Amino acid sequence: MQVGARFDELREQALAELAACADERALEAWRAAWLGRQDGRITLLLRSVKDQPPDERPAFGKAANALRAELEDALEAKRQELKERALRELATLRALDVTLPGRRPTRGTLHPVTQTLRDCIRAFEAMGFRVFEGPEVEWAYYNFDAVRIPEDHPARDMWDTLWVDALVDGERKMLLRTHTSPNQIRVLERHAPPIRVIVPGKCYRQEATDATHEWMLTQIEGLAVDEGVRMSDLKGVLYDFARRVFGHDRRIIFHHSYFPFVEPGVEMAIDCFRCRGSGAECPTCHGSGWIEILGAGMVHPEIIANAGLDPSRYTGFAFGLGIERVAMLRWGIEDIRHFYQNDLRFLRQF
Ligand code: FA5
Repeated sequence: MQVGARFDELREQALAELAACADERALEAWRAAWLGRQDGRITLLLRSVKDQPPDERPAFGKAANALRAELEDALEAKRQELKERALRELATLRALDVTLPGRRPTRGTLHPVTQTLRDCIRAFEAMGFRVFEGPEVEWAYYNFDAVRIPEDHPARDMWDTLWVDALVDGERKMLLRTHTSPNQIRVLERHAPPIRVIVPGKCYRQEATDATHEWMLTQIEGLAVDEGVRMSDLKGVLYDFARRVFGHDRRIIFHHSYFPFVEPGVEMAIDCFRCRGSGAECPTCHGSGWIEILGAGMVHPEIIANAGLDPSRYTGFAFGLGIERVAMLRWGIEDIRHFYQNDLRFLRQF
């Protein structure tokens, strides 16, 4: 048989077997059978050059080398083809079916207390108050001493405190703030009159909870200090706030109250949305007909003086508003504890 014809036959057989390979394992078996270093058929063919008649050796060697190169190329091309096919199959598996109906994403809403907080902030901003922020982990100095509640003063009992265990100079001096009032001092330390700020934030108390008391509560502190600020300004601001947030048909009442950092001090209450003042047994207002939403008063002259201001020239008012109570009154929620129980059946209603 002619050298060329023998090689053509081999090429055809090798390429046919290669074409039948369906995966990487078959390819490897084919490579070993044809191109393997030990006993691949082409390797053996090359080794047999020396056994050929001398005048045929050059043509034989050349043809055998050309066939080896051709088969190596064919192997590489086949490997590439298999790889691409695998990628295509993967892409089909993961393909998007655009005809499937879409899944509606669940959209959250702001927590009702956050919504109310923002509405209250907007009401005060509309009256010219600016927002200031202070720390939730506070020094006892700001929470108590600086607002005229010295250690051992009975007024400390008004707020059952959650203390931070860390000792400073051998004493517990940090706590979770019980109210936002320490920020009156923080603002006065940093800003000069005219001052008109609100300070929103969480406060913490060691409370036995009931329908209107939680151990975590949200307050907005208000502070205005300037020449000639009067009690009527405080009442005007709070009336205006109540109208903006609750509308015109709700009733408001001021009671005298005591807070060491104001003189005189008041509490403001709104008529109970549940019994509107009629139910002696009402669990929400305990039969009083009113729900207290804030404490307020004229900033104590001693606090004005401690800020380096002349109390005969500068006066101010302050208030501390409870946001959960406002949310309860707005939406008629009869128990404050609903807010932080994370029950979606409740939260989805807002
Ligand atoms: C204070 O916290 C004073 N710092 C308020 C103040 C500021 C007075 C500036 C004068 C001048 P009081 O403890 O009463 O006061 O709380 C104020 C408001 O926070 C209450 O009217 C109520 O709306 C809300 N509040 C108080 N305790 C709770 C509680 N446990 N759960 C929910 N809301 C509360």
